[in-house]
Amino acid sequence: MTTTIAITQQKGGVAKTTTAIHLAAGLARAGHRTLIIDLDPQGPVAPGLGVNPPADLIPLADAVAARRLAEVILPAPTANLFVAPGDPGLDPAAFARLPHRATALRLALSDLRADYDAVVIDTPPSLDLVTLNAVMAADRAILPCDADAESVKSLERTFRAVRTYLQHRPEVDPAGFCRVVVTQVDPRRRVLNDWLDAQLAPLGDAVFRTNVHKSEAFPKARANGETVFDYAARHPAGTATRAAGELTGLTEEVMAHE
Ligand SMILES: Nc1ncnc2c1ncn2[C@@H]1O[C@H](COP(=O)(O)OP(=O)(O)O)[C@@H](O)[C@H]1O
Ligand SMILES: [Mg+2]
Repeated sequence: MTTTIAITQQKGGVAKTTTAIHLAAGLARAGHRTLIIDLDPQGPVAPGLGVNPPADLIPLADAVAARRLAEVILPAPTANLFVAPGDPGLDPAAFARLPHRATALRLALSDLRADYDAVVIDTPPSLDLVTLNAVMAADRAILPCDADAESVKSLERTFRAVRTYLQHRPEVDPAGFCRVVVTQVDPRRRVLNDWLDAQLAPLGDAVFRTNVHKSEAFPKARANGETVFDYAARHPAGTATRAAGELTGLTEEVMAHE
């Protein structure tokens, strides 16, 4: 059975795409046939993975609408990893025209259930019809957060929005649907880190034990079009190896949960 995980948070820059790319790559490296779908019109996933979409690829919005998702899926350099690249035309209006406006992605993905063990969906920094489609298609959501007041406020808004969306899916238990990963941790900012821990304490084990520390390896790997797993293999000095280890730890926690 396919597990589908949406990575979502209203705020930009909280490491949604970084988490999505590395969870998908981590699952692929663990032997699971994994598809990552980029719902952000800025399309960071394919370039971040070193995938160059051909110019004549059908736009993702059209592929979802026509249930032709399989036709836009490209192999990534990581074995077992496949990507549906982002589309600058994929905005809420693209879904609003469809008869199944909230479940278009869910329908399109249902055709691929037999082909993948895991699907990871990266979302834009907004709580709109695009993100609603991701939540309606997912079995779980992972919400990245960092030690910043705006991030925590938008985490709360995202939680509330997901809860509201799930009212349309009575078969899903809202408890346990969302989990939070703490990212971009800077150990020198102790007061802020303690503050974040206190904010998240009521969520209990809905917060992953693995924290992801700040590391230059993430933006450097992204700029090279590779994952930190591959980057760390070539640059074992510095914080790259720790970064790769943390993302492996997060992937293991996700797999243990399923
Ligand atoms: N743990 C981290 N340490 C350092 N930089 C990070 C980390 N996680 C993400 N980044 C960088 O922060 C920026 C925003 O991350 P991104 O994953 O694109 O966030 P979002 O998708 O939520 O907008 C990117 O340049 C990314 O490389
Ligand atoms: Mg992003």
